[in-house]
Amino acid sequence: MFMNKLISQSHIWNSLKNHQKYLAPVQMKDLFALDEHRYENFSIEACDLLLDYSKNRLTKDTLNLLQQFAEKVELNSWVKKLFNGELVNNTERRAALHIALRNRSNTPIIVNGKDVMPGVNEVLDRMRKFSNSVRDGNWRGYTGKHIENIVNIGIGGSDLGPAMVARALRIYQHPRLQSYFVSNVDNSHLGDILTKINPETTLFIIASKTFTTQETILNAQTARRWLIEQLGNDEAVAKHFVAVSTATKKVTEFGIDPVNMFEFWDWVGGRYSLWSAIGLPISVMIGMERFEELLAGAHKLDQHFATAPLLKNLPVLMALIDVWYSSFFGTTSQVILPYDYTLKLFPAYLQQLVMESLGKRVTRDGNIVDYATCPVIWGAPGNNGQHAFYQLLHQGTHIIPTDFIVAIESHYDLSEHQDAVLSNALAQSHALMMGRNLEKTKQNLLNMGIEGEELSKQLPHRVFPGNQPSNTILYKKLTPEILGTLIALYEHKVFVQSVCWGINPFDQWGVELGKNVASTLLPALRVDTHNNAHDSSTNGLLNYIKAHRHSVL
Ligand code: F6P
Repeated sequence: MFMNKLISQSHIWNSLKNHQKYLAPVQMKDLFALDEHRYENFSIEACDLLLDYSKNRLTKDTLNLLQQFAEKVELNSWVKKLFNGELVNNTERRAALHIALRNRSNTPIIVNGKDVMPGVNEVLDRMRKFSNSVRDGNWRGYTGKHIENIVNIGIGGSDLGPAMVARALRIYQHPRLQSYFVSNVDNSHLGDILTKINPETTLFIIASKTFTTQETILNAQTARRWLIEQLGNDEAVAKHFVAVSTATKKVTEFGIDPVNMFEFWDWVGGRYSLWSAIGLPISVMIGMERFEELLAGAHKLDQHFATAPLLKNLPVLMALIDVWYSSFFGTTSQVILPYDYTLKLFPAYLQQLVMESLGKRVTRDGNIVDYATCPVIWGAPGNNGQHAFYQLLHQGTHIIPTDFIVAIESHYDLSEHQDAVLSNALAQSHALMMGRNLEKTKQNLLNMGIEGEELSKQLPHRVFPGNQPSNTILYKKLTPEILGTLIALYEHKVFVQSVCWGINPFDQWGVELGKNVASTLLPALRVDTHNNAHDSSTNGLLNYIKAHRHSVL
């Protein structure tokens, strides 16, 4: 288990540690003062995205050290392994080939001696036919009506990706169709939606890679029971339920005809699966042509990632900068701020993509790390954040690297609104970087007529320390292609970070314990008897619940 030393024992790691000590007190505003071309020297345009990484606490020396770090961890070789379908998911002995799902150049990709592309294309063809039949009105429900409501039942990667994309691309959706994404097992989620939809015009998509996830199966069973009750015959299921899964047998056992099942494969990770048949609600809502534009955008980024030199490589740059903060500045969170409201679900989507991939403490070789890995990922649409948590960003005690994701134009364009979005986005990243020092704050308060003792009292509360780092990503307008590029950018950024930290980003053993304990508590909740089989807190909580709810008998 101790085959390789931790990367933190390497010479380059030590060089980066020393370099951080030198840079820690350096103010970014001074770096800008020293180089009037800092923006030009620390920004890059590729795949119709502009990345401005100049507002970061780094210099060209930093980037050179980070490049040496990337070379030390053999990044290029790992990228080749990923693209060649090698078993990069070492604990599950699987490939991670989400790039095959959007491999628009159709070059063969071999897994276990077999080209996976024919299978990928066969499923895309089935998705196209099905999406067209629902959109054209040819797919009819049990009572002969066409479909109006698409209800996707899934959770985690079987929900967050499709829900985020459907929301982001709502401007492209079919006018007759409305999509709903049910994930939580609390019946206030599904139950609320069932009161709003007409069973005759509703199509349920049960999305689950394993088809064993408790929340999804329970919701699917409740939805199935509701539909049969509403339409009076279990033969209605075939017309109102389809499944997306790798588990054909379990889908059949549930009562969905395999003819209505869209398959994907175990080399597709749940949080990397929206490009597969898990994306069916997307292709139904926006049409297969637009879905394929999404795939094409991701493919464009894939090609960039596989070929661009390290310091001209968008996901590599973003990843190295984040490793620089997490492992050398000791930052513990990163905030995602879309200044494009259609991306309102993007932070939540990234929470799973990043934290379920990188929230680990053991390397591929089984060694416990002695350095920080994944930061906490959080965020909200920028302007909302300004009225919620920016106080902490501007005057708190944490260094919190920020990604500003900004659309130059909106599909809902009212120039006055869009100018407000843009001015706020640029103002915030500027203010976070520049801050406002004592002298300028004093002048500001004097100009407001605050002077003497009151001025002395106010001053310490009104200063902005600044030096908060941020990236700004700009794109012209959020099209399916741009969205595909943006998502793939973060997927590959996560992969690069995993290589830097020596961890496997494609398994998720950490989700098992909670599930197992929950299954032992279920029986205890099914009886009214006093509970003392667990720790005193769990016993106390269980017994309090039983004393304060209606009897289950
Ligand atoms: O959160 C654990 C997890 O396995 C995720 O990785 C996955 O996306 C989600 O649950 C749903 O899994 P499934 O698609 O198999 O229902």
